[in-house]
Amino acid sequence: MRTLRDIHDLRHTLHGHRLRDQRIALVPTMGNLHAGHLALVESARQQADVVVASLFVNPMQFGPDEDLDAYPRTFEADQAQLTEAGCDILFAPTVSALYPNGLTAQTRVHVPEMGEGLCGGSRPGHFDGVSTVVSMLFNLVQPDIACFGQKDYQQLAVIRKLVSDLHMPIEIIGVPIVRAKDGLALSSRNGYLSQQERAIAPALYRTLCELRDALERGESIERVLHQGQTALYDAGFKPDYLELRDTMLGPVANTTRHAVLLAAAKLGPARLIDNLSVQLPAVTDTSH
Ligand code: PAF
Repeated sequence: MRTLRDIHDLRHTLHGHRLRDQRIALVPTMGNLHAGHLALVESARQQADVVVASLFVNPMQFGPDEDLDAYPRTFEADQAQLTEAGCDILFAPTVSALYPNGLTAQTRVHVPEMGEGLCGGSRPGHFDGVSTVVSMLFNLVQPDIACFGQKDYQQLAVIRKLVSDLHMPIEIIGVPIVRAKDGLALSSRNGYLSQQERAIAPALYRTLCELRDALERGESIERVLHQGQTALYDAGFKPDYLELRDTMLGPVANTTRHAVLLAAAKLGPARLIDNLSVQLPAVTDTSH
């Protein structure tokens, strides 16, 4: 695997692959890799000739009171894991390489509607930061496909809309969530949890499973979501949101059959997110 930090080197290297008509996949990451990231690389490997992973802790997507400084940086271990996973190129630019004029002066990409509410509601500006850096990476790498995890459901929806609205010829692949044996969705932020909090954390997934089962039995959405909030509080979380949306993140209607249950909750220093798909029965109470 080649590690490139420079934009010109990246462009030069990829030009050679493109001349040979090779299919290029991009896996954007912020590093501190775990099995969830490796599943993205694996999916990319299966569908392309050349796999490029990017590693960039993007300051633009962190709010002023968020964990930019604390975000785990494990470059050597990440490099070793990517090599082992069969990644061909690691692109790891510096902040000044991507934002040479600083963040304030930087042109931003805003995806309306899809990026509002849910995580966009509790993290103002977050999806502008994600959309801007991902657009930049798409421009630099010009991949045929790009792989993102389904754990960040809203992020995936925002990126699909971005690519569609800007007519980018890139296929976006959503890769299923990888979970620990106890159900906790893998995340770099799980590392913030104490031993005690880590023991509580799988209750987020368990609660979502119970709520999904109740919804699929046709129980009232309003009642189920209320029970879910209570269950999360009782387990020790501070829920940020718990919502049922249609698969495009619109409101659930009487006719909605395929829905998604989305949750974000604070547990100690970590903000955990998760989601589950729900098949709603034909007759259901949609009162909120
Ligand atoms: O999901 C992430 O790790 C980040 O939001 C991404 C897509 C790499 C953009 O910085």
